[in-house]
Amino acid sequence: MRLLILGGTSEARRLAERLAERGDVDAILSLAGRTERPAPQAVATRIGGFGGVDGLTAYLLDNAIERVIDATHPFAAQMSRHAAEACARTKIPLLAFSRAPWRAGIGDDWTEASDNAAAARALGAKPRRVFLTIGRLGLADFAIAPQHFYLIRTIDPPEDLSFLPHHEIVFARGPFSVEDEIALMRTKQIDTLITKNSGGDATEAKLDAARALRLPVLLVARPAPGDAAVTHDIEETLAFAAGHARPPALRGV
Ligand SMILES: NC(=O)c1ccc[n+]([C@@H]2O[C@H](COP(=O)([O-])OP(=O)(O)OC[C@H]3O[C@@H](n4cnc5c(N)ncnc54)[C@H](OP(=O)(O)O)[C@@H]3O)[C@@H](O)[C@H]2O)c1
Repeated sequence: MRLLILGGTSEARRLAERLAERGDVDAILSLAGRTERPAPQAVATRIGGFGGVDGLTAYLLDNAIERVIDATHPFAAQMSRHAAEACARTKIPLLAFSRAPWRAGIGDDWTEASDNAAAARALGAKPRRVFLTIGRLGLADFAIAPQHFYLIRTIDPPEDLSFLPHHEIVFARGPFSVEDEIALMRTKQIDTLITKNSGGDATEAKLDAARALRLPVLLVARPAPGDAAVTHDIEETLAFAAGHARPPALRGV
């Protein structure tokens, strides 16, 4: 089985490790090339965009790919759309494998925002002290709400942030502990958390900290899922990769 994994996530790396252990699938892992020194992967890797749907379609045919697993980040919507379209064109089976979204529990004060701009608007007119953990690329969406203080946490440095006159940047990569998140939010007198609903354990502690501190959370919803079947289960994904199973379509997650 010749398999293409669209990666850039810890899920894709874990999947590659499991496939390498089994050895019955000829897998290629694709990375966008955003990270300067990507972590070593357990299977063969290719790096860089394909050149849109046409480029991906050509790649699938030229490399005799038989199945595709879209294990990109839940917010990497363009790549997922392209994968769905190229697989539909070539009739190559596609499965989206992603981490489960976070769900509110007892004690949580969460409001869902449809996108970053909606989260920025939901902050209101009165200046607030916001812990903003949406990655560096969506920060420009907050230019419409410059009156707030933003504690911005990113992995790589953001570009010019002069449109946010009150901000501080923290560079850090998860996983984070609840204790450290509580300490950070207390020290910076944060009154609101904004995060994308990425899901996963590595960055969940900020939500536990917000619950402990009784802080409101604005949760940016995932983009609408594409046409692919979706699973959060690695065993189901491995079965699909090996060609043994075609999992049921679990849409809308
Ligand atoms: N968005 C996030 O919050 C987030 C968070 C963590 C990790 N990531 C990872 O970072 C990468 C880029 O994310 P994004 O949100 O910028 O993606 P995106 O907006 O959905 O995709 C933009 C373009 O980047 C290229 N691309 C994306 N993923 C690729 C992959 N795995 N292999 C080859 N090309 C890829 C494609 O270029 P062409 O059109 O030229 O093919 C795609 O059209 C993804 O691999 C994603 O898994 C994203």
